[in-house]
Amino acid sequence: MASSSAWLALILGIGFTGALDFNIQTNSSKLLTVLDTSAPVQELLYHIDVWRNEAASLALETPAPSNLESVIRSEVGGDWERGRLVLQLANQARTVELKEAIYTALWKELQQTNQIYDPSKILDFYVQLSLHTDVPLQLMELIYRAFINRSAQLLEAPFHTNSREATFPLVSSLVQRLTFSTLDYLRDILEVLYDAVLALETPLSVVQRLGNFTASLTQLAQANLQLLSREELKRGDPLVQQALQSNLRNLLKQPGFEQEVESSLQTVIYAHLPKDEQLLYTARKVCIRNVTDGNSYIYECPQTYLICSNVRDSKKAAYFIQRGHSSDSRPQFAFYSAFWRNRYILMEPATATANNATNSITKNVYSRTNINWWRVVYGNGGISLYDAATEKSVLCGGDPLHWDGEEHHVYTRHASELSAHQAECTWALEDCSEAA
Ligand SMILES: *[C@@H]1O[C@H](CO)[C@@H](O)[C@H](O)[C@H]1NC(C)=O
Ligand SMILES: *[C@@H]1O[C@H](CO)[C@@H](O)[C@H](O)[C@H]1NC(C)=O
Ligand SMILES: *[C@@H]1O[C@H](CO)[C@@H](O)[C@H](O)[C@H]1NC(C)=O
Ligand SMILES: *[C@@H]1O[C@H](CO)[C@@H](O)[C@H](O)[C@H]1NC(C)=O
Ligand SMILES: *[C@@H]1O[C@H](CO)[C@@H](O)[C@H](O)[C@H]1NC(C)=O
Repeated sequence: MASSSAWLALILGIGFTGALDFNIQTNSSKLLTVLDTSAPVQELLYHIDVWRNEAASLALETPAPSNLESVIRSEVGGDWERGRLVLQLANQARTVELKEAIYTALWKELQQTNQIYDPSKILDFYVQLSLHTDVPLQLMELIYRAFINRSAQLLEAPFHTNSREATFPLVSSLVQRLTFSTLDYLRDILEVLYDAVLALETPLSVVQRLGNFTASLTQLAQANLQLLSREELKRGDPLVQQALQSNLRNLLKQPGFEQEVESSLQTVIYAHLPKDEQLLYTARKVCIRNVTDGNSYIYECPQTYLICSNVRDSKKAAYFIQRGHSSDSRPQFAFYSAFWRNRYILMEPATATANNATNSITKNVYSRTNINWWRVVYGNGGISLYDAATEKSVLCGGDPLHWDGEEHHVYTRHASELSAHQAECTWALEDCSEAA
């Protein structure tokens, strides 16, 4: 080993100072004169060969680049870390040809080591190489592709397993490593990955496995969106669409989503949700109206502090959306009157006597200064609003029995009654951001 270090240093014509701890003789005047800056690589190799063999057998063979390769390979000796040192030395090689020969030989050698199976290692090498300005683009591209291919191969494993509980430590560490790199790497890996897994697995299975992936929110956002845009998923299978939306909703649920995921990705994610759901995240203000009656909007009743379903008044009906998370991290929403500027739509806890088995309607929805959270459930062509605190009541309206003259009060029903009273308890959202 020591002697190959010496060879290497000599090839490169380096007078370095022992920082790399090689026990070598740097002042070999004989060689330093040979390692002329202008010498082409063949000639250098020739002289190295001369020097190496000391004796005169050299003239018999034509020197070949493989000599450099073998010197470098024995220097690296299957030890990835030593490759890093050799790469540092390349900086000091005097001709471009020599440098290129070193880079190429080094890559060949690294491929021989078992560690090439760990894509993070390839990435490290790639990153180090990219600090050198003179690495041939073709070589960079080759190494990059190897990194992408190997990463994709590794990530395939979870998609081919039946268990949704299995863990894959190598996958996790790669994904973790990728959080420090540009998203482009992940994008390229996913493209190769999806080519491979969608050829063998059903789209539904791929979507579901992705739903169990552990990664950063940004990575998961990217992975789901990229999957969404694949041709294989555009066949409109409703189960696949549902599974994808469920993956996206799981992302939105995460309290860090709005902070961590860049807004351009967020925008694309919202765009894949049903319109009502989208508005909850993208609109500044919304109006809440009867899903079938286009002129029946929620806002404060004219005479009382109750909430009514009134005729359209885009000013009074506009609510700012506040988004929050319950303690179990599910999203919840509050609606703050853009007109009154100090009141929310609030449900007062129902008193025990207020409802009984045959009629569980309660008029307990007010305009109040306290914040009040609602849970949004999507379905029946619109949304339903449950009180977030208990999830036992759902907001309904439209039954004239509970009106009072001009005041068309809304009310709550027991949550279990939703399916029997869908029309009464389903609302639509409108974008009222522009309302004054
Ligand atoms: C190498 O040679 C230079 C001058 O040629 C001399 O100053 C230096 O001391 C030498 N170093 C060693 C380690 O022999
Ligand atoms: C990467 O994979 C593609 C597709 O399988 C293949 O054509 C290419 O040769 C591979 N490249 C490297 C560097 O492994
Ligand atoms: C995988 O996802 C499914 C569906 O979302 C879920 O029921 C299951 O608990 C998940 N498994 C793990 C290990 O997270
Ligand atoms: C339940 O409520 C309805 C309507 O408010 C009322 O007519 C009925 O008597 C109540 N039943 C009981 C058992 O309280
Ligand atoms: C919507 O309007 C219809 C028709 O007037 C009514 O039956 C229904 O209960 C209303 N729903 C809501 C949520 O106001």
